[in-house]
Amino acid sequence: MYRECGIRIDGDDQILNYIEANRHLLTGRPQCYQHGDYHVGNMVLTEDNQLSVIDFNRWDYGDPWEEFNRIVWSAAVSPHFATGQLRGYFGGDPPMEFFRLLALYIATNTISSIPWAIPFGDEEIQVMKNQAQDVLAWFDNMNNPVPTWYLEDWHVQSIDGVPYRLKAPWDLSFIGKYGKVFKVFDEQDSGNICFGVQKGEEKYFVKFAGAPTIGYSGPPEEAVKRLKESVPVYRDLAHLNLVRLLEAEEIGGGFALVFEWVDGECMGKQYPESRQRFLQLPKETRLEAFDAILSFHAHAASQGYVAIDFYDGCIMYDLTAKKTVLCDIDLYSRAPYTNNMGRMWGSTRFMSPEEFQLGAVIDEVTNVYLMGATAFALFAESDRTPEKWQLSEKLYEVAAKAVSDARSQRQQSIQQFVDEWNEAREK
Ligand SMILES: Nc1ncnc2c1ncn2[C@@H]1O[C@H](COP(=O)(O)OP(=O)(O)O)[C@@H](O)[C@H]1O
Ligand SMILES: [Mg+2]
Repeated sequence: MYRECGIRIDGDDQILNYIEANRHLLTGRPQCYQHGDYHVGNMVLTEDNQLSVIDFNRWDYGDPWEEFNRIVWSAAVSPHFATGQLRGYFGGDPPMEFFRLLALYIATNTISSIPWAIPFGDEEIQVMKNQAQDVLAWFDNMNNPVPTWYLEDWHVQSIDGVPYRLKAPWDLSFIGKYGKVFKVFDEQDSGNICFGVQKGEEKYFVKFAGAPTIGYSGPPEEAVKRLKESVPVYRDLAHLNLVRLLEAEEIGGGFALVFEWVDGECMGKQYPESRQRFLQLPKETRLEAFDAILSFHAHAASQGYVAIDFYDGCIMYDLTAKKTVLCDIDLYSRAPYTNNMGRMWGSTRFMSPEEFQLGAVIDEVTNVYLMGATAFALFAESDRTPEKWQLSEKLYEVAAKAVSDARSQRQQSIQQFVDEWNEAREK
């Protein structure tokens, strides 16, 4: 029917070849009653969170695993839901045989839905063509039967009703001793998982290393080691504009730091709503925030430290206290520091050329670049052309000088940057 219908999908060869090469998998499969159109669009949640299934009018008989062929609709809405559906059915990861059959059922469904869509008009044909492209992408042009939306390393737990994800189960119930959890940060690439907790009137921020977190690919022991080594850094660099470290201890098979909670907007790109509110703060407020950032980094330099991995996710603004608070200085190190990684930790928008060069010296002049990059992040959304700059031309020149690729062309200390910045501000 597809070959005769006159409409073609790009990449249909791969789909048709997959069907030919795998149709033998159908031999001997069990048969049972099927709903026939089982996906999120036919599920209804009641007010008391009961899940009901509707629309049984496409029922028929077939392989129980074929029932998953409409999971494409669920996966497009939520990979987590689709992954959970498979894991729930199989009690863990599905066998490879299932994925090969699923790809076969999805491939046949994709091909046959093209002629099916024709009577419904162009719009429906386009929907089906788009879905075919999704299918090719999910199965790497039918070369890998495990779809890309299937989240292999993924496990959900919850504490005080707040869900969070890990790669594998890990007992984090000890977090309860610090207070009742109201927020979780589980996506960082640091290997840490963080919790906002409340005890009585007080709120705290607990950072834990040791658990298998989803955003981190290294060994948890290294995350633990880094977190332990960060304790003296927070103590040495204590500052009005730095989160306050209250406690540090070995616990729960890893290591935990407890900080004062900051009720604020974080500028990090990973929190789009909060970032938006931060960037909409009046220019004067953002200038004050930048002063605080400069003051903290001048302090760090005077204590013999270099900033590593500082970016917008470290910048918070407390609207009530009208105060800028910086966090996540875990990797700040004593100068002189040598780049021993190649591409170091950090967000590209904030990193100097030497942070990409194995063996390069990372020092205060590197941090001058960082201050320039931060100015562009605050006052030009990281666009370094003069057109996007929201402050005066003089201030632009100071920031642009700081982000020179050549180290000798930058200001040679944070203090020099501060002096030039303040002088330009007065003009
Ligand atoms: N003391 C705090 N109070 C409230 N939120 C915080 C605090 N410290 C950090 N955060 C928020 O939590 C996020 C993750 O914390 P961070 O220190 O960056 O953890 P990691 O070491 O895992 O990168 C930060 O981007 C910031 O938004
Ligand atoms: Mg971080």
